[in-house]
Amino acid sequence: MINVAIMGFGTIGSGVYEVIKHNNEAIKAEIWDDIRVKKILDLKDFKGQEVESLIVHDFNEILNDKEIDIVVETMGGVSLAYEFVKAVLKSGKHAVTSNKALVAARGTELIQVAKENNVNFMFEASVGGGIPVIRTLAKAYAGEKIREITGILNGTTNYILTKMDEDGETFEQALTQAQKLGYAERNPEADVEGFDACRKIAILASLATGKEVDFEEIYTEGISKIEKIDFAYAKLFHGSLKLFGSMKVEKSRLYAYVCPMMITDRHLLYMVRGVYNGIMIEGNMLGKSMLYGSGAGKLPTASAVVADIIASARHKNKNVPMGWGSEKAKVEDIKESTHQYFVRFSGNDTALIEKCKKDFGEVKVLQLEGEDEFAILTGTMKEDDFKQIVEKIPETIKFIRAIL
Ligand code: HSE
Repeated sequence: MINVAIMGFGTIGSGVYEVIKHNNEAIKAEIWDDIRVKKILDLKDFKGQEVESLIVHDFNEILNDKEIDIVVETMGGVSLAYEFVKAVLKSGKHAVTSNKALVAARGTELIQVAKENNVNFMFEASVGGGIPVIRTLAKAYAGEKIREITGILNGTTNYILTKMDEDGETFEQALTQAQKLGYAERNPEADVEGFDACRKIAILASLATGKEVDFEEIYTEGISKIEKIDFAYAKLFHGSLKLFGSMKVEKSRLYAYVCPMMITDRHLLYMVRGVYNGIMIEGNMLGKSMLYGSGAGKLPTASAVVADIIASARHKNKNVPMGWGSEKAKVEDIKESTHQYFVRFSGNDTALIEKCKKDFGEVKVLQLEGEDEFAILTGTMKEDDFKQIVEKIPETIKFIRAIL
């Protein structure tokens, strides 16, 4: 019998319980053993509900229960989750989490603690919900040198951008709709300002490089300044805007960022619409591959947690390396990266258009009928050089990085 404990019986925790119950026979067939949820840690009592008899309020009841093999952390937050998960691993139990904030902040240490105690710390559900991107990087592409990972890693912002693009909604209208549908939180900052995607790309970059990539070193810009008119310009060249989380290794240097990106319909991630996630991975032998699917939500995320429970049960007495070491990676400053840029300027002054052509080199000029402004698309430039030019032009309204 494999005994599981769940810490935190919210959306994901209750989803894990549901998946174990619903798919019990299928899970048993995978591990050749019985599986059950033995204890659930939560502040609430869940009186009159099926799980009432499993509820405990004291973490030590799980920690000191010798029958519990695998502990799931779905509480969220960092401090307490870290303390509990570390104690779980030290006690010789496996830990599985869906908590990207915990993995991004403390992943390196917890992977090490798991190794020292011959157990596993698994976190498939922390990035991409039901998309098996962690397993793909750690196992399927274990022999690859990863050159690039670029993903739409946040379902809420992708939903908002899709609504702005397809239904002509403003950012505020699309956000309100996302909140009504339960995608966006009442305080949507973590999603719309890119913090969620930042932690996710930090986790993927750590797996891809084998080093600790500090999420605080990753340039992060959200979508709250994206306007309807940006999509109108994008439509002139069959393009759109997406929030990308990206890491690239070029000449042994690591670049990583989260920011809105203007892309054309030829980009692999263009067709990732609504709340879905898409992740493009490029390896030196592999070339390009792409993962697509439900990046959030109760059951897709719980399904990924259960896959980790199964993997832990299969390696009950063995630590499985994740390819994420303790050495710290250096992330280059965004100023050192190169991009194309979409830039909007106020007015329609022919002299300014000519100046742009001269200053930025080869540019494409975009004009919308009836608007007292114009935009340009630049060639590929180093961000530092681009900024030195653009910051000297007082008519600049804004710029967005672009892949054309
Ligand atoms: N808020 C996240 C999203 C949930 O919208 O993608 C999954 O991490």
